[in-house]
Parts: sequence; C-alpha cells; structure tokens
Amino acid sequence: MIAWTAQQVAEATGGRLAQVDPTVLVTGPVVTDSRQVEPGSLFVALPGEHVDGHDYAESAVSDGGAHLVLAARELPGVPAVIVDDVEVALGELARGVLAALRDAADVPGGEPLTVIGITGSVGKTTTKDLLAQICATAGATIAPEKSFNNEIGLPLTVLRADESTRFLVLEMGASGIGHLEYLTRIAPPDIATVLVVGHAHLGGFGGIEAVATAKSEIVTGLLPDGVAVLNADDSRVAAMAAKAPGEVLTFGTTDAADVRALDLRVDRAGRAQFTLAFRGDRAEVALRLVGEHHAHNALAAAATALTAGLPLAQVVTALNAADALSPHRMHVVDRPDGITVIDDSYNANPDSMRAALKALAVLAGRERRSVAVLGEMMELGPETRVEHEAIGLQVVRLNIGLTVVVGDGARPIAAGAVREGSWGEEVLFVADLDEATRVLESELRPGDVVLVKSSNDAGLWRLGDLLTDVEVPA
Ligand SMILES: Nc1ncnc2c1ncn2[C@@H]1O[C@H](COP(=O)(O)OP(=O)(O)OP(=O)(O)O)[C@@H](O)[C@H]1O
Ligand SMILES: [Mg+2]
Repeated sequence: MIAWTAQQVAEATGGRLAQVDPTVLVTGPVVTDSRQVEPGSLFVALPGEHVDGHDYAESAVSDGGAHLVLAARELPGVPAVIVDDVEVALGELARGVLAALRDAADVPGGEPLTVIGITGSVGKTTTKDLLAQICATAGATIAPEKSFNNEIGLPLTVLRADESTRFLVLEMGASGIGHLEYLTRIAPPDIATVLVVGHAHLGGFGGIEAVATAKSEIVTGLLPDGVAVLNADDSRVAAMAAKAPGEVLTFGTTDAADVRALDLRVDRAGRAQFTLAFRGDRAEVALRLVGEHHAHNALAAAATALTAGLPLAQVVTALNAADALSPHRMHVVDRPDGITVIDDSYNANPDSMRAALKALAVLAGRERRSVAVLGEMMELGPETRVEHEAIGLQVVRLNIGLTVVVGDGARPIAAGAVREGSWGEEVLFVADLDEATRVLESELRPGDVVLVKSSNDAGLWRLGDLLTDVEVPA
C-alpha cells in the first residue's frame, strides 16, 4: 500500500483509532493472512469461515511486525482502527487509496493510471493474465493473483497499487445481482470488458437474464468517460452497449465487431491462431495457450489493450509471447513416459467443460487415445442433472477413448454417455479421488492424452497435481 498514516486509514474507513499513534505509517502490504504479514503491514482481521482473523491480530503485530490492524473490536495492546464491518472497511480503504492515486496521477505531466475491470461467466482469469502481460510491456502493471475477484480479493489487489502503477487490471466476479455494483464502487474502471454471459454459477442467479443484468453492472459502474469493451458475438453482452455511459468498442468474429478475429484455426497442439483486424490494420496472432476457446479471451485482451491506447503491433507481439499464468488452466505437460496431461482442473462449468473436451480431442488426434477424467460441475442449481448428462453426450460425440467419472455429483455424465451409445469399458464411474488415482495407475499407458477437469470444490486439481508432478519410474 502507499504509505498512509493510521489517521488516514481511519478517515477512509470511518473507523476510530485504538491504542495507536495517529501518525504511525503503514509501509508494508495489506494482508488478511497473518502468515503473509511483513514489517510495516496493515493486517486486516476478517472473520473467516473457520478462523477469526482477530485471533491472529496480536501475533501479526508482535511477531510479524504489522504496524496496524483493521478490526471490528479492540484487542489488548494491538494498534488498530476499529470499524463496524471489516470487509466493508477494506473496500472503503481500497476506494480511498485508489482515489488518492488518481489524484496524484491527475497533475500536469503526471503519468495516467488506467483501471481496467474484466467480467464474464468464463475466461476472466485467463483474459486478465493475458492482458496483464500485454500491459506490462507498456508500463508498471498490477493484476490479481490467481482469481482474486471478489469483495476481498479485489480491494486487496487495488491496495497493491502505488504511485508507479500505470495499469491496474482487475478481475471482477459476480455470483449475484449487486456484486459488480459493489466492486465498481470500490474501483470505478476507465475500461470495462465483458466476455460472455454463460451458464457459470447459474444456481445463484436464477436464470441467464439475471446473469446478464448482473454482469451489466460493470458497464453502469464505469467512470463517466469510461469505455465499454463488449463481445459482439454474445447478444446479451452486445446489448449492454445501451447502458454504456460513453464510448463502446466491440470484439468478435463477425464484421459487426470493431476488433475482429479472422481465419480462426487450431494447430495440432491445440493452440489457436487467427488474424487480428482493427481499423484497417492486421496482425497475426499465434497463442501459446491450449484450447480454441482461448482465442476469444485473447481477442478480448487485445481489444482492451487497444482501448487503453497500445499500438496493434505491440499488443500482438505481447499476446504471442504470453503464457497462462494461473495454475490448473489448460496446463499441458508431456510426461517422459509418453503420457500427455491436460490439467484444466481449476474449475468447470458446462461451457468450459465442452471447450476442454474439444481441446482433448484435438490434441489426441487420430493416433492417440483420449482419456477424460471428469468431476462434478457445481452451482448449476436445478439444471445440474441435465447439464451433466449433456457432457456425457459430448464425450461420445467427440469419441473420447476412456472417460472416468469421479464422484456422485458427476454420475449423470456416465448416464448421459451410456444413453448416447457408449458401451463396454469406455466409461468408468469411480466414487472418489483415491479410486480415480488407482484406476488411472492401472489404465494409463504411453501415448494417452489425459484431461482432468471438475469444479474447484470437487477437488480434481489434486489429481491434476499428482498427474503432472509425478516422478515417472523408468
Ligand atoms: N471462452 C471460454 N469458453 C469456454 N471455456 C473457457 C473460456 N475461457 C476459459 N475457459 C475455461 O474455463 C475455465 C476457467 O477459466 P478462467 O479461470 O479463465 O475463468 P474465470 O472466469 O476466471 O473463472 P472463475 O469465475 O472461476 O474465476 C478454464 O477451464 C478455462 O480453460
Ligand atoms: Mg477467475
């Protein structure tokens, strides 16, 4: 965080000082995990599901060297700012700090700070990672770690920015109405990018139109002169133009789009390539990321960077060199024993499941056996059985060689596959990760291409780690 006094923290959060000299400076990072405290830190004592941050406040100060604690109650001997609601106060602090950074940048000769918000049902983290790598070629860039996109992760990311920051790239997640309104109030963007309105987290929303309304809050939350960057290929996203306060730039694959991908193709390694066209200029994109679906994320990242004023050639050069930064996302490992693992176990919903299965089929081609290890897609509400069955259907259509369905929640995938005509040993059901591990140990053979995928909470990422990290015996 920029150096702020306890007094400034109290003013920004509407809190009161307790056992602290008002002039004490916060000089280290703002953290919610006491293990990450550094000397000078501000420790944010959040009440967690399992642990209460207040229990760690004292040691954050005495052992970790934190200068200040943001807390909901006074703690003996702990220098603190006391607020009613620590989570809300964290947001207020981020809002205040960002406003101060904007003021500091907004002086004659000052270097501008561009705040970019990205939302959508899938692809946020991937797009954020691509965009951050592009922006970094033009100036100091702050972007979230992993998928920090909620009411805690977003302010923590904002608070990492300082006077040198030129681009603040923020992932904004929404699992309900009002979530993006909250996040954009903390960090009103100069540029808001909307990827897709899909089926992710439908359970919490109650319908796809409600998802569209919730996502549109990023557009209404733009600064008055902010630009909306919208997906022209998704009608629900394109329609958000009507809510934009000003300029709109679209991206997509048809001539309705301002930034367009032409001649989209996939190489044998499953990586997307296309021609990027913008205002009469063209450049060739060849991604390092695996999966045709990433073309769309790359296009969104490019459109956003162009909106931020970067030249096309620079955008494309950076895009072609960019890697997937966050773990368990289409992470492809060619093992020494001849087995290729696609670890896409970070998360899953019907859209990303289909995309990953398609990439599996492409990578395996005709010569290699494709193996899909699939777990539950969560938060699908009443759609859950139908959506899982539909994946079973897809597995058969793509001619996946072996499908291992893990856990009861995913069982309808097996049922769907069998109904579509899968037979014999093509689809196996296993109860849990242990059984999946045993089955894979005996089933996998050199040449196989294995995809591992499920929702995060279904835990198949453990299997992803295991399969990609193994010391393969000679
Ligand atoms: N455009 C897309 N279409 C289908 N699947 C996609 C697309 N973009 C990403 N995916 C897949 O969706 C999964 C999640 O991707 P990513 O982490 O980028 O999304 P996210 O929106 O950040 O998700 P979350 O809401 O969990 O933070 C990955 O498996 C990824 O390969
Ligand atoms: Mg994410």
